Amino acid sequence: MSFVEYSEIIQEGDVIIIFLGHESMMPIKVQSGAQTQTRYGVIRHSSDLIGQRFGSKVTCSKGGWVYVLHPTPELWTVNLPHRTQILYTTDIANITLLLDLKPGSVVCESGTGSGSLSHSILRTIAPTGHLHTVEFHAQRAEKAVQEFKEHKVSHLVTVRNQDVCKDGFNITGIADAVFLDIPSPWEAITHAKSAMKRKGEIRTLDSLLDHGFEEICTLEVLLRVHDVRTVTLPLPDFGPEEDSADSSQVASDLSQDEVPNTGNTSVICRTATPPREMAGHTGYLTFATKPQVDLFIILSLTLSRLLSVL
Ligand SMILES: C[S@@+](CC[C@H](N)C(=O)[O-])C[C@H]1O[C@@H](n2cnc3c(N)ncnc32)[C@H](O)[C@@H]1O
Repeated sequence: MSFVEYSEIIQEGDVIIIFLGHESMMPIKVQSGAQTQTRYGVIRHSSDLIGQRFGSKVTCSKGGWVYVLHPTPELWTVNLPHRTQILYTTDIANITLLLDLKPGSVVCESGTGSGSLSHSILRTIAPTGHLHTVEFHAQRAEKAVQEFKEHKVSHLVTVRNQDVCKDGFNITGIADAVFLDIPSPWEAITHAKSAMKRKGEIRTLDSLLDHGFEEICTLEVLLRVHDVRTVTLPLPDFGPEEDSADSSQVASDLSQDEVPNTGNTSVICRTATPPREMAGHTGYLTFATKPQVDLFIILSLTLSRLLSVL
C-alpha cells in the first residue's frame, strides 16, 4: 500500500481506512496480532484484514460489517489527526488545477501543518516530482516525516524543520510552484521567488507586486451541496377556474409524483434544495504569475489572518 500507488491486497504495516458510514471512518495501521474496536464489534487484523482485498466487506465480532478501503489523499483529509487547521478538498482541487501540478512537478510548501495538502500534492506529482515542505514546529515536522514514511511516499518529499521566512526552502531555481499557508506569507516571498525556476491581501499583494509578480488574483471557494428530496409545494392561485375539463386534462398529463393532492392546493415533486448549513470560510487563495515564465505562486490566508493585516 502507498498513497500514490494502488495495491489489491491488504498487508502487514498498511494504513487502511475502516468505513462504517460516510460520517464515520477510522484510519488504522494494520499489525498482525492487533485488534480494532468498532461499534459493530472487534476487527482482528491477522484474520480479518491481512490478505483481504481492499474494498471488501469485513464482518466484525458482533455480526455487523464494515468496508476496508485503500487510503487516498481525499480520505486522509477527512480522517487525519488534526495538528493544525487544514485545507479541504474544495480548495485543494483549485490549488492543484491553478498551480498546474502534474507528474514530475517540483513544489515548495510551507507550513506542512497536518499534511492534508501535502498528501494531495504528492499523489499528483508522483512518480518523478518532489515536494519540499517546510514546517517550523518541531513535533509537527517530525510527525509529518513519520506519516510520509508509513504512507510510503518519503522518496517524494523532503521535510525541513525551519522558519520559511528566515531560511526559505533550501533550493534555488528549480520549483515549478510554491504554496504558502502561514500567518505572514509576505515575509516569505523573496524565498519563494528564488526557489522558483528561472528569473523571470494586502501586505502580501504589495509584496508580490514589489517582487514583480503579475496576474495577481484572490479567490474564495465555497461549496454548496444541494440535497435532492421530495417536497410539497403550494399551487399558485390563479383565481376561479373557467373550464374544469381543462384542469383535469392538466392533472392527467402530470407524472404520478406531480399529481396535485386533495383540493388541488399543492403539488408533490422531487427537487434539489440548497443546504441549510454549509462549511464556512476556509481560506482566500491568492495566485500570482512570475513574469516571463508560466509559473505560479499561491498563498492561502485565513479570515483571521486577513483581518489581522487589514
Ligand atoms: C494552517 S497550518 C498548514 C496546514 C496545511 N496546509 C494542511 O493542509 O494541513 C500552518 C502551519 O504553518 C506553520 N508555520 C507558521 N509559520 C511558519 C514559518 N514561518 N515557517 C514554517 N512554518 C510555519 C505552523 O506551525 C503550522 O503548522
